[in-house]
Amino acid sequence: MSSTAKKRIGILTSGGDCPGLNATIRGVVKACYQLLGEENVEIIGIADGYYGLIRNHCKLMEPSDFYGILTLGGTILGTRRTPYKKMSIVEGDNVDKVKQMKETYMKWNLDCLLTLGGNGTHKTANLLSEEGLNVIGLPKTIDNDIWGTSVTFGFHTAVAIGTEAIDRIHTTAHSHSRIMVVEIMGNKAGWLSLYTGIAGGADIILIPEIPFSMDLVIKAVQSRADSGKCFSIVAVAEGAMDAEEAAMKKKDRLQKRVEAGETTVSARVANKIQEATGYESRVVVPGHVLRGGTPSAYDRVLATKFGARAAKLISQEKYGYTVALSGDWITENKLSDVAMKTKFVAPDSPEVITARSIGVSFGDR
Ligand code: F6P
Repeated sequence: MSSTAKKRIGILTSGGDCPGLNATIRGVVKACYQLLGEENVEIIGIADGYYGLIRNHCKLMEPSDFYGILTLGGTILGTRRTPYKKMSIVEGDNVDKVKQMKETYMKWNLDCLLTLGGNGTHKTANLLSEEGLNVIGLPKTIDNDIWGTSVTFGFHTAVAIGTEAIDRIHTTAHSHSRIMVVEIMGNKAGWLSLYTGIAGGADIILIPEIPFSMDLVIKAVQSRADSGKCFSIVAVAEGAMDAEEAAMKKKDRLQKRVEAGETTVSARVANKIQEATGYESRVVVPGHVLRGGTPSAYDRVLATKFGARAAKLISQEKYGYTVALSGDWITENKLSDVAMKTKFVAPDSPEVITARSIGVSFGDR
């Protein structure tokens, strides 16, 4: 691994895509050109995340590949989920993934590897760092659940999209006097539901960190109706669960849902509300729309700041870190500190307290 002024930098994007991946790539590359001189920088694009690193799907990128991508959604490199728990398993075709990734890194004579991704991506980034590769992480995810950073890029764009969806649902909920249950992405952490719920004026917000009682959700809907409000908006994180389910192991919880014929938590919530109150209920799932399209102005700025910091780390040959936002400042955390943690919504977080203070129900009291 050379430490001359010239740098060969491998870049990959891994896990679910989100707005701001290209803006971050552009930020790193442009800042590297500035810091090291364009003639001293070679960027190796790795296709489809760690899969491309395992399979040696890499190519030397041209500076022009990074023109005009600030506003582009998705990722110019492609992405794929390659679960961390399967990284150390040698599968059917006898591929030792970790060995292969190291070989690709060496084959391309990389000075460092940049990994743009969420929690799973950071676990593998740390693994490769422990294996001796020079790795720098960049925190992306609409879930905003990466430990050590106040926010991840992609999150605020998804909040804006989710908020617009709820705004539009509001008018139709009102017209039809219906209960509209809006399912928002977020399996483990409820940040996106919490923010879109508050910004969109949801009446009830259900998140994985605050197990709910179906009776209390129904009570909240009924009490709005009793006070003359003919409709309600319920923002439900896809990973929300009731108190009984929260006490169960994941496997048992899923089994229970299959036995009850339930597909999603939002479908169950809508059905139970309709059964108990008689009010017509509907489910809306914005789904992957939340992850698509151009990044917001905020995310473009954040992505550029993160990218510039990663370039600085490269110029300092400071590896084994992931960049982060702390208050107003860009900083970095050790990959080993971030790798096995998740940033959950604290039930006494300012956002939860604020929502409760204006009468939002979390279905728990
Ligand atoms: O990127 C994280 C996430 O958005 C989660 O909130 C969601 O559960 C998951 O991706 C779904 O992604 P996919 O359908 O692409 O696997």
